[in-house]
Amino acid sequence: MNYYNNRRSFIKKASALVGAFSINSLFHQLHAESWKEATKSFEGLSAQDLAANEDYWSVIQQGYSASSSPIIILNNGGVSPSPVVVQQAVERFNQMTNQGPSYFMWQILDQGRESLREGLAKLGGCSVEEIAINRNATEALVTVIYGLDLKKGDEVIGSTQDYPNMMQAWRQRAIREGIVYKQLTFDFPIENDEEIVEKYRKAITPKSKIIHLTHVINWNGQIMPVKKIARMAHEHGLEVIIDGAHSFGLLDFTIPELEGDYFGTSLHKYLSAPIGSGMLWIRKEKISKVWPLVCAGDPRSDNIRKFENLGTRSFPIEQGIGEALNFHNAIGTKRKEERIRYLKDYWAKKAKEIPGVQIQTSLKAEYSCALAGVSVAGLNPSDLSSILFNTYKIHTTSISLENIHCVRISPHVYTKLSDLDRLVEALGKIATKSKG
Ligand SMILES: Cc1ncc(COP(=O)(O)O)c(C=O)c1O
Repeated sequence: MNYYNNRRSFIKKASALVGAFSINSLFHQLHAESWKEATKSFEGLSAQDLAANEDYWSVIQQGYSASSSPIIILNNGGVSPSPVVVQQAVERFNQMTNQGPSYFMWQILDQGRESLREGLAKLGGCSVEEIAINRNATEALVTVIYGLDLKKGDEVIGSTQDYPNMMQAWRQRAIREGIVYKQLTFDFPIENDEEIVEKYRKAITPKSKIIHLTHVINWNGQIMPVKKIARMAHEHGLEVIIDGAHSFGLLDFTIPELEGDYFGTSLHKYLSAPIGSGMLWIRKEKISKVWPLVCAGDPRSDNIRKFENLGTRSFPIEQGIGEALNFHNAIGTKRKEERIRYLKDYWAKKAKEIPGVQIQTSLKAEYSCALAGVSVAGLNPSDLSSILFNTYKIHTTSISLENIHCVRISPHVYTKLSDLDRLVEALGKIATKSKG
């Protein structure tokens, strides 16, 4: 074969690699057949029955290198590891990129974004024309926060339990432009949707324009009734921004059914996509009025791609999203949600029975899934988290925020029951010692 044929065939292969959804995908090469075989006997089981089936989940666990980590990682809500197949895809794309970045990144890998958009839209149950791919939930949500026209005196209603980056962005607009940023505070856990909806309703005045909502509160895992709040907000003529950092790729919903106007999420949490990947959804008819953070071309365009002008960024990370979708879809969102809720219940229900241990999260299915907060009488959260790590090699995160004080525990599909047994045993020992 001469140079030109060699080169053409190499480029053809390189282009095929970009198609994470094709039969050339790493997922198909590494997992598809063996999973099909290993999981055949579970096909008739409901998601809830399957949630407690260790044979099935042990197959999934093997897909993650984190399942054999020497420390037990129980802060997947912060950031989640990727399955091996996703890590390998990123490495492969990185090697390809470094053969000649300006060519392979901008002419080959760049072609892959449209199929990623399709995959994400399918998972989100929305139109491909409503999805922009970016680097994290902060970037997605701040694009909307800074991109909406508001004038002095216009009100935005949020809560003190939203995510700090978003609160800061609203505060900045308040300082610069004189908008009014009002924040509610909730005494979580709350097991009553109406109580939450009512609080937002009462905060609305004729000057209110936007409600900023967090779908799953990151501090203690409370699932908020976003659809009911959004419906109520629309009845009053307000728009709704939803922070879905802890819900997308975990809870079984479609983005439009939440009835918000804007939705931002990270993909490196429960979807297990490469670290540094995120997504923005904007209802089609609202796209044109949101100013992009970094403008290319017409800022008033109704093309969602106007939000993807991020400057030079990591294409290998972005393209790795495709294998994360393959991995996720092979499990299915409902199964994943039920399994992760089962894992949360598994440790939390046992821990609740230990004298001196308190769970700070509702254990009703509609109010929590992966995340739950735990505290031990006599210990502050940061001491509890340190003991869990230093003595038991269990990594968690401690939360101390106004009225929420706990250690947050968040398992993932690769978490083993034996890891959670170790957590419960550790909490028992710590609580006994703390009392004595
Ligand atoms: C509720 C919530 N929103 C947004 C974010 C920010 O996510 P990222 O770091 O991907 O921007 C987080 C991070 O943990 C979060 O908990």
